[in-house]
Amino acid sequence: MSKVLISDAMDNIAQKILSENNIEVDVKTDLSVNELIDKVKIYDGLIIRSATKVTKEVIEKAENLKIIGRAGAGVDNIDLTSAKEKNIVVMNTPGGNTNATAEHTLALLLSLSRRITEANSTTHKGSWLKKNLKGNEIRGKKIGIIGFGNVGKRFAEMCISLNLKVMIFSKYFDSIKADFPQYISTDLNNILKEADIISFHCKPNNDGSSIITNKEIKLMKSNALIINTARGNLVSENDLYEALKNNRIKGAALDVFEIEPAKENILFGLKNIILTPHIAASTSESQIVVAEMIANQFVDYFLNDKINNSVI
Ligand code: MLT
Repeated sequence: MSKVLISDAMDNIAQKILSENNIEVDVKTDLSVNELIDKVKIYDGLIIRSATKVTKEVIEKAENLKIIGRAGAGVDNIDLTSAKEKNIVVMNTPGGNTNATAEHTLALLLSLSRRITEANSTTHKGSWLKKNLKGNEIRGKKIGIIGFGNVGKRFAEMCISLNLKVMIFSKYFDSIKADFPQYISTDLNNILKEADIISFHCKPNNDGSSIITNKEIKLMKSNALIINTARGNLVSENDLYEALKNNRIKGAALDVFEIEPAKENILFGLKNIILTPHIAASTSESQIVVAEMIANQFVDYFLNDKINNSVI
């Protein structure tokens, strides 16, 4: 009987589907790296979200491991090179949390534009800042979307329906732009100079370098907003801190951080930034979908010899 370890919190449906298909499953979350190395040895499959780091060492010591499943999209917490060397299949659940992530991005954009977090905290304290909390509308504003995968595409749809002018920077988009005449295909430089809002929906650079540093921020409009619900290292936190502290740009909203969980961060306490703890994909709806998808993909792998949504 195949044995699977689920090492991050996820909807119970994953466990249920695996058990119903006679796959033995254990759920052990919040393991330290050493605990994971110790425990993973006996399992044929490992299912994770973003908290578990499947490092080179974990993979080397995982004697029986044949398959790693990511209930979500990003696989940057898995050492893909080591997995490939050991012929371990790595799969994700593309599309399962797309809408959730796009909606969270929109929520951050509207919260920043209408100063919702400030309005909420001051109103709770009994300050009636009706005259001080003037916001901005997003209609007619230019938004630069970096990346046109599932989330970038869904978020672009939302933006166009709200009458924003949508500019896309993505190599992939370039090849399909004829199918999307409603969007402007452009380069990063142009987005930096023209956009009122820049939102990230791309993969991180392989070397972990940032797309937005001081150099890029210098090109941006002073009223610009940066939103990042993709990966933390896409925007340099130190450079963003300087820009926000000196009001070089108007504001930012981040759901992702260079180091997660972000227990300490240079950006904490700044007034012109909204921070959320990597929850863009966390809706009841999407978490059921990704748990169901990954469990069914594991069933297909163990029972039907089928590999779906492999990433290597
Ligand atoms: C993802 O890559 O799917 C997202 O970062 C969501 C997550 O699993 O936390």
